[in-house]
Amino acid sequence: MSSGNRSDATNPVTITALARKKAAGEPIVMVTAYDHPSAVVADEVGVDMVLVGDSAANVVLGYDTTVPVSVDEMLVLTRAVRRGLRTPFLVADLPFGSYEASDEDAVRTAQRFVKDAGADAVKIERGGTTVDRARAIVRAGIPVVGHIGLTPQTATSLGGYSAQGRTAERAEQLIRDAIELEAAGCFAVVIEAVPAAVTELVVGRVSCLTIGIGAGAATDGQVLVWHDLLGLTSGHLAKFVRRFADLNAEVVTGVRAYADAVRAREFPASEHTYTIGPEALATLVARLGDPSWR
Ligand code: KIV
Repeated sequence: MSSGNRSDATNPVTITALARKKAAGEPIVMVTAYDHPSAVVADEVGVDMVLVGDSAANVVLGYDTTVPVSVDEMLVLTRAVRRGLRTPFLVADLPFGSYEASDEDAVRTAQRFVKDAGADAVKIERGGTTVDRARAIVRAGIPVVGHIGLTPQTATSLGGYSAQGRTAERAEQLIRDAIELEAAGCFAVVIEAVPAAVTELVVGRVSCLTIGIGAGAATDGQVLVWHDLLGLTSGHLAKFVRRFADLNAEVVTGVRAYADAVRAREFPASEHTYTIGPEALATLVARLGDPSWR
């Protein structure tokens, strides 16, 4: 892929490069990451875009929803990811409550993610007043990704974590949201948990990048949550997740083997142990044996 790999450190992915991919019909690969090791892998693989999603709240920080995660928590994760990336375009989620109330809040929070954590762009959820926030952030010189369909930050008002746009009215609103977000200056829109036929209608009406998650195959790119695609999560999985590995089982096996080895006194073995020269040891023992030693 043209976005390259870690050896392409001098050729970071730009919005122009992403638009070129869209024009060429080349699928855009986006994945979430929340820490340095996963960022290094995403970079090594040469994905186009990395999202420090507020799904970190669920998969990394142990919250039940994305609502409680704070700006400071997200900044720590974004900085760690930034340090691990050379080429992919880095997008950070603005957490719930950090951008909705005013354009000033939105710009100030977005600036922190760019200035203090090195994000290339920020993502914000919903249409409606979020369109104004997107416009304000774009005017402040920061690229913005919109997010429509299932928007986890406001899942309660959507009636839960279910597919969106399944009535003509809701689908029409979704299409309007996408058009308004593009008009506000968003260079990309994430479409989550939406019927494929509705996604096609969105994609046909906007010229910005469209990135799908549970939205069918018509979008310019796809995004999945790191822990979901690698099988690092247990419990309920959304219909749109495909597991490309089963790492949780591997991790449990590895940690269990370590615990067993410690309990059986098999670990550490001599090859994991430092030595001290016999003379130094003899001198030490003699010193300790001196009655005046204490
Ligand atoms: O927070 C997140 O991981 C996201 C993706 C699901 C798009 O917003």
